[in-house]
Amino acid sequence: MADLRGKRVLVTAGPTHEAIDPVRFIGNHSSGRMGICIAEEAARQGAEVTLVCGPSHLASAPGVHRIDVISAQQMYDLVLPLFADADIAILSAAVADYRPRAVSAQKIKKKDASLTIELEPTPDILASLGQIKREGQLLVGFALETENALANAQEKMVRKNCDLMVMNTLADEGAGFGHDTNRVTIIDRRGNITNFGLRPKTEVAIDILTHISQTL
Ligand code: C5P
Repeated sequence: MADLRGKRVLVTAGPTHEAIDPVRFIGNHSSGRMGICIAEEAARQGAEVTLVCGPSHLASAPGVHRIDVISAQQMYDLVLPLFADADIAILSAAVADYRPRAVSAQKIKKKDASLTIELEPTPDILASLGQIKREGQLLVGFALETENALANAQEKMVRKNCDLMVMNTLADEGAGFGHDTNRVTIIDRRGNITNFGLRPKTEVAIDILTHISQTL
């Protein structure tokens, strides 16, 4: 088993919700389970863990210092300063890529005409950490791809300047959103590709942290 005693680990998990009006939002199917399992396992291995979690119904172990947020902007505002003190950052959150440009102060009324909501990009937290990463800090990204998984994940790893990319696809039965199991492939900057089998997310968390420890 990996040993993370003395390490400060920052984890993001869950979806983000981007408000349209006071009662509606844009979100996604992330449950937060994968990131919560990683945070709990890192704490079990002796790390000092901070989990920044988007809206999730799942609880996390008391050994994890958890901060709940709603939107991508809130996650960004919290994570950036926290990264300064982290040895390892694992960004497993399914952050919304776009948010409504304007949030309506009142509930939008139904009309017969079609409705257009203009979207603007959210800040990319992983890419921002990649830009300020110091020597000795390890940055891990996640990539959920529906096509050309390996090539897209490799491109993302380089563009966002992270050291490892954990990849999963929705094509796998029992993997990804809403499942208790996942099947991941970990890629690194030297071109190594490690495939893992379909496993409970608690065990996938151990695989990921073991791989991280070996990279440190
Ligand atoms: O570009 P894409 O969204 O596929 O990248 C996925 C990775 O980037 C994940 O690690 C995710 O947590 C992170 N990300 C982020 N902020 C965003 C979008 C993605 O940190 N706004």
